[in-house]
Amino acid sequence: MAAKWTPSSWRSKPILQQPDWPDKAKLEAVEKKLAGYPPLVFAGEARRLKDHLARVAAGKAFLLQGGDCAESFAEFHPDNIRDTFRVMLQMAVVLTYGAACPIIKVGRMAGQFAKPRSDDFETRDGVSLPSYRGDMINGMDFTPEARIPDPERMVQAYSQSAATLNLLRAFAQGGYADLHRVHRWNLGFVEKSPEGQRYQELADRLADTLGFMEACGLTSETTPQIRETDFFTSHEALLLGYEQALTRVDSLTGEWYDCSAHMLWIGDRTRQADNAQVEFLRGIRNPIGMKCGPTMKADDLLRIIDLLNPENEPGRMTLIVRMGADEVGAKLPALIRAIQREGKVVVWSCDPMHANTVKSSSGYKTRHVDRVLKEVRGFFDVHQAEGTYAGGVHFEMTGQNVTECVGGAQAIAENELGDRYHTHCDPRLNASQALELAFVIADMLKKERQQNGASRIKAAS
Ligand code: PEP
Ligand code: CO
Repeated sequence: MAAKWTPSSWRSKPILQQPDWPDKAKLEAVEKKLAGYPPLVFAGEARRLKDHLARVAAGKAFLLQGGDCAESFAEFHPDNIRDTFRVMLQMAVVLTYGAACPIIKVGRMAGQFAKPRSDDFETRDGVSLPSYRGDMINGMDFTPEARIPDPERMVQAYSQSAATLNLLRAFAQGGYADLHRVHRWNLGFVEKSPEGQRYQELADRLADTLGFMEACGLTSETTPQIRETDFFTSHEALLLGYEQALTRVDSLTGEWYDCSAHMLWIGDRTRQADNAQVEFLRGIRNPIGMKCGPTMKADDLLRIIDLLNPENEPGRMTLIVRMGADEVGAKLPALIRAIQREGKVVVWSCDPMHANTVKSSSGYKTRHVDRVLKEVRGFFDVHQAEGTYAGGVHFEMTGQNVTECVGGAQAIAENELGDRYHTHCDPRLNASQALELAFVIADMLKKERQQNGASRIKAAS
């Protein structure tokens, strides 16, 4: 029998990756203030996402999760939100053609402000300062003042999340996402690229189909599925004082939901079964993600799943695998077999970013698009071999024309990284690279569908 859970029961557990707040009284006062603020999402929306994810787990939908590594106060601008949103819409259109099933869109947006770090301190030219832990905690500038954790930053992160979510809802439901606008989602700098051209052809076909449907009486006015889309938010549940403050009882069900986002995930560095993050997340009813890095053991995975999803509820657990391009083939099968053997229902998603980060010769942290792609291919191959469903992808990406990842059709070179390197943490795919990957994944999904169809026919005959 698990011990009693409360929104604060995590406080008696060991916890990693936390700032050393200098002013505890101020921290408490801010947490109290946030606890009185309105929730950012409704429990019903989180349940709706869980239902969608249950469909993904059953192989009937595909998850597209993406956005910034770390949102920042400095890059808070409606154009940035719009551009990431629309490149996700573009990717979803491309993936729909490949997968022939609904694409569930989840942003790493409207709350992704706290970061785990590999070192507690950063050293430059012999000077050591506490590491930057995300705009919700301290500042990125390399000065002693900026690096002091300031609880008031949580209030600013809350406000920015509220405004971001407000705009995302307006875009998703107010006409911007209407499929008739499919041509206009092609971003300026992408339009001229080979992916942009390829997208244009797809958009032309979609426009023809919409014309046909219109002739049959299915228009934006009559059919909400054409006019609007569902767009959900997610972030890493790292800074638990903030998460606790946004955790509320749902008046419909009497259950606890973390209303800071629809979906929360546990990072690869904070997924210990006895620690605070697992304790906190086991008690909230949102859909939960968990990163599975190369050190994840099958036994630990099962133990954590038993804590987080004792009822084996479909849609509750998404396993976000981030093994690395060279490791996924060797390490993923054991996890899949354990899950299959125990009859656990999960969504398998692929994060091909976090174990493929390297330091470029120019000193920038970067990722090679071909390595990212290699991990995605490896992930799909393993699922094909195990007879399980590769249900989603998880990207760090932006709609902006940044130069943070090298390679791709644009062939960004290491010496060009400095041109537009804006990330506050890890390097992101730019819109063109993200779209390029969507096309490759769509082809894989199509192949998977054809092979599965062929094997079903073979099995039936
Ligand atoms: C992240 O998603 O930004 C992250 C830090 O990932 P991971 O926990 O997998 O390292
Ligand atoms: Co990251």
